Amino acid sequence: MSEFVLEMKNIDKRFLGVHALDNVNFSLKNGEIHAIIGENGAGKSTLMNILVGIYRPDGGEIVLNGISVSHNTPHEALRNGVGIVPQELNLVPEISVAENIFLGNERRKGPFRFMDWEATEELARSKLAEIGIDVDVKQKLGKLSPAFQQLVSIARTLSFDTRILVLDEPTASLTTTETTILFKILNRLKNEGKSIILITHHLEEVMRLCDNVTIMRDGKMVHTGPVKDLSFDRMIFYMVNRNIDKNKKECRTVEKKVILKVENYSRKREFNDVNFEIFKGEIFGIAGLVGAGRTELFNCIFGITKPHSGRLWFDGAELYVKCPSDAIEKGIGLVPEERRKMGLFPFLSVYENMMLPSYSISAKAGIIRYNTVFELAKKFTARLQVKMASIFSQIKNLSGGNQQKVIAARWMAKGVRLLILDEPTRGIDVNAKGEIHHIIKEMADSGVTVIIISSELEEVITLADRIMVMHEGSVKGFIEETETIKEEDILRIALQKG
Ligand SMILES: Nc1ncnc2c1ncn2[C@@H]1O[C@H](COP(=O)(O)OP(=O)(O)OP(=O)(O)O)[C@@H](O)[C@H]1O
Ligand SMILES: [Mg+2]
Repeated sequence: MSEFVLEMKNIDKRFLGVHALDNVNFSLKNGEIHAIIGENGAGKSTLMNILVGIYRPDGGEIVLNGISVSHNTPHEALRNGVGIVPQELNLVPEISVAENIFLGNERRKGPFRFMDWEATEELARSKLAEIGIDVDVKQKLGKLSPAFQQLVSIARTLSFDTRILVLDEPTASLTTTETTILFKILNRLKNEGKSIILITHHLEEVMRLCDNVTIMRDGKMVHTGPVKDLSFDRMIFYMVNRNIDKNKKECRTVEKKVILKVENYSRKREFNDVNFEIFKGEIFGIAGLVGAGRTELFNCIFGITKPHSGRLWFDGAELYVKCPSDAIEKGIGLVPEERRKMGLFPFLSVYENMMLPSYSISAKAGIIRYNTVFELAKKFTARLQVKMASIFSQIKNLSGGNQQKVIAARWMAKGVRLLILDEPTRGIDVNAKGEIHHIIKEMADSGVTVIIISSELEEVITLADRIMVMHEGSVKGFIEETETIKEEDILRIALQKG
């Protein structure tokens, strides 16, 4: 018997115009946590989607416990004990937690095979208890936070007696505390002898949690081995094939000309009596833990929801936003945190997804000048190194991170005056992250005001000229000296009393 529970040998996969996997080898041991890392579009999700039967390989072999297998559907993979928690959760928010866990694996009873709700709920509860989660399984899934939905997705995968669990970027929508909970669960599963494959862009997670790491670049496997043999910089070197400079903190000076003023903004159960001013051309960071009310506050300022009290001023005049189009008309843009909710049109092309809101600037006398549209789309996709066959490819065929880049480029191309970015680099690889940071600085230097909401404190610290710290719906403080601030200082401010 081989020491491996899983061996993927010489896996090859082509999509129209892309060689997504080129002769990839991957092996997994019993009871290990194995990271797969690589830039956006490197082929990580594709490799795992082949393992679980979502895609068919063009060549190569999958060997499970010494036996050659081929999975035609995710269900076949589950029957062989291989399950995935996909990059974009595929649960149904409108039905209950219990139903989600047993979707496609329903408990039935009696001669007519009716749904056995009691058994379903009982089992769902025990599956969740196994990973240490206690939620009401009868409530609608959509009521749970993204983090809990993620955990439900894991419980669902484990409900099939999974021996090999694949997690595709599970921590992208989790905060530090929730990530710690997830990692405890993963370590427990590992100690029970399960094998776990973790795709992530966070190298510190690889260092902290994983035994081995496989590094992919441009559809090829470029390194595999124990994590302890590699340094941070070495991992990045394998991923991008060159050394990259760490983002340096730059001191910017901003003229104190107020562009946005928020006064006594409140919305019940979301945020309370928020007051602040932002200057033109400033990069303003918003830090806080989950539930701090950051997203809710800026969704409200943008007109997605209505405040229960408060007033706004923009560029010297009082601003009334009843709906997002009022804000957009004034030159305010918002890039929301959830890709799928924020109007990604999966069947449209990359250039359409990027340029739709900008058609007015590329039109002359109401007629869209497509050459301008194509030029702008090409310029931005090149700068952000969007990996795709061409700007005419359907966006649904891009890797998760590359879709995210297109959405970021959407507002950058539009020429806004105030841009609100909610978790702008979530799911984006180290290299492109640096480029997005660069563009944000350039925009700010050209006079655009940028608000950045990010759970990555390091990101807020390196980018922001000033930081507003929120906790449980209240503003806890402002940090003016962002050059010397440390992550723990921000947490201390967030958690201080009063
Ligand atoms: N259904 C598809 N049709 C065409 N091309 C595809 C399809 N799925 C993936 N690709 C291409 O295959 C390549 C690898 O994509 P994959 O999703 O595996 O990347 P990834 O490493 O998971 O990236 P990310 O970190 O952004 O999630 C990309 O160039 C992507 O555009
Ligand atoms: Mg992916």
